[in-house]
Amino acid sequence: MKKFWVETFGCQMNKLDSEQFSGELMLHGYSQATGQDDADVILFNTCSVREHAEQRVYSRAGILKRRKATDPGLVIGILGCMAQQEREKILDRLPHVDLVAGPDQYKNLPALIDEARESGEAILATRHTAFIPKFDRLAAPRENPWQAYILAMKGCDEMCSYCVVPRTRGREVSKPIPEIVEEAHVLAGQGVVEITLLGQNITAYGEKEGKELADLVEAVAAVPGIRRVRFVTSHPHHATRRLFRTMRDLPNVMPQIHMPAQSGSDRILALMKRTYTNAEYLDIIAMAREECPEIELASDFIVGFPTETEDDFQATLKLAEQVRFGYAFIFQYSPRPGTTGMRDLVDDVPAEVKLRRNHELLALQERIQLEKNVARVGATVEVLVEGRSERNKAKWTGRGPDNRIVVFEGDGELAGKFVETKIARATALTLYGDPLRQPAAVG
Ligand code: SAH
Ligand code: SF4
Ligand code: F3S
Repeated sequence: MKKFWVETFGCQMNKLDSEQFSGELMLHGYSQATGQDDADVILFNTCSVREHAEQRVYSRAGILKRRKATDPGLVIGILGCMAQQEREKILDRLPHVDLVAGPDQYKNLPALIDEARESGEAILATRHTAFIPKFDRLAAPRENPWQAYILAMKGCDEMCSYCVVPRTRGREVSKPIPEIVEEAHVLAGQGVVEITLLGQNITAYGEKEGKELADLVEAVAAVPGIRRVRFVTSHPHHATRRLFRTMRDLPNVMPQIHMPAQSGSDRILALMKRTYTNAEYLDIIAMAREECPEIELASDFIVGFPTETEDDFQATLKLAEQVRFGYAFIFQYSPRPGTTGMRDLVDDVPAEVKLRRNHELLALQERIQLEKNVARVGATVEVLVEGRSERNKAKWTGRGPDNRIVVFEGDGELAGKFVETKIARATALTLYGDPLRQPAAVG
């Protein structure tokens, strides 16, 4: 039996893709290898969002050149966004690679691997499709039995000037609600209690069909056994009042949203083509909090965008201070081939300025998170336990409804269970709690 090994980079969408095509390979007679060394097929599911992400793959795949020379039957595949973005350039730089396949090719993966093996020639497969293929959810291996992602929509029709995703993932296509609900039933039957709906622009879900994300979220929340529904990533432009009401009214829709602001400067937001102003973003946050007071917000920020002045950056700091996000990912601008940003703008903010702004925003964000987390001391938080804490194996780690990490001590096997904890202390990243009682067995 042939064995495959997958290394996954990038976002949750890539994690889910890896699960789904792994399942497809297993249905075609492959089994999972225990590591690169005993694999007949080595696949890299890659990310192209920043240059750094691509460089890591070039080096990881580059070191396989020696093995390929002595083991010509080995199939090496570069999949994912970087495959879609770089195409034949990958074969120029890594001539020992057998297969370059974009995200819309995964259903064909077993056939593409056969073709590469039989022809002995490198295969390039990067055509976009206008539909979302069906994968067998029972076959797709997951990290754990109680949490699952479902692809709700693929692609992105926004035109953020810095971003490769519309190129790598193509046009927006929403998966029909009945198909998603069916998947949720299958997953619930397998013991899944938490579902995260994925889309690069999930708030635009169903728009082409006259639906909205709230319709989907309600339908998934109604599936018996599903105790937590989340979705990611949201664009402020499409967020509706009804979505926030759904979060407030349905106890199993988690009051948490990842809705990147990117910048607090109107001039930079316009250059980014984000389609909202700072004031409009704040209005949406106000609406979210008005409808769902316990909502927790997370953001992404890009610092050092072309022409970003100190004043622009101060506006971003001010926004972060005003909104007080529960979490924020901070990125330094990286010009990406094929984007309008790279075509029209000069990457003129020096590396050391980007780094300094990154540190400054991070320090502010950490201070805010610490203050917010300390304010949670004394609160009761229901945790879905994910496993043993990496730092201290005697402790358990999981997440509360608002997605905060909670660490606590407890006896027995608690992974996959819900545990009520009382928060005793906090850091900027973690709440530390004590279980209120031994958990009831769940699902
Ligand atoms: N679809 C999601 C995520 C896109 S990529 C969304 O719209 O939010 C995740 C994050 O990477 C983005 O939110 C942005 O902050 C960052 N990012 C994207 N392109 C980038 C680039 N060229 N340089 C630096 N950061 C970038
Ligand atoms: Fe990229 Fe913008 Fe689409 Fe997000 S909304 S994936 S940042 S183009
Ligand atoms: Fe990266 Fe593609 Fe995700 S570029 S962030 S893996 S959609």
